Amino acid sequence: MAHRMPHLAALLAVLSLLGTGAALAQPDPVATRKEGLKRMQGHLEAITPVASAGGNVRETVPRTEDMIAFFTGFPALFPPGSDNNGSKALPSVWADRAGFEAASANAVNAAGALRNAAASGDAAATAQAVRAMGGACGACHRNFRGR
Ligand code: HEC
Repeated sequence: MAHRMPHLAALLAVLSLLGTGAALAQPDPVATRKEGLKRMQGHLEAITPVASAGGNVRETVPRTEDMIAFFTGFPALFPPGSDNNGSKALPSVWADRAGFEAASANAVNAAGALRNAAASGDAAATAQAVRAMGGACGACHRNFRGR
């Protein structure tokens, strides 16, 4: 065991260097959130046909878990001033922060319900939860996303 410690220390040193590099690169939050939202769209589009065909919805659980995680961290992807670089976010994202956070929380709840439906293996319940999830997407877009 003891002889493995130096390797662990070296690994941690490398990881901390990588972390510093990522921080210095300062990824654009607009690009990060658009990329994530496209991934969320892909999840919905992948789950919908499985559920409506009465397929094995349990296989889609990892997608629903990615949705829960993404929307949990969603408000943090909209730091003050990130309304540039081709963003379609409306000024209300920052002016009505409480409303935006509530809409994000609704999406987390809808994703949680979707996860539970998928995990239960009930395709009809999953199809219904997908529609509710889509409703949570649309509700936020109406108030916070421009065209
Ligand atoms: C809490 C608010 C909120 C929720 C919930 C939300 N969105 Fe959005 N969405 C936005 C905003 C704001 C933008 C514009 C982001 C930008 O351009 O900076 C956006 C943009 C998008 C885009 C365009 C990305 C691009 O490349 O320009 C897609 C696709 C999208 N959302 C899909 C979804 C899907 C699918 C869901 C639900 C699973 C969802 N959104 C839920 C607020 C939300």
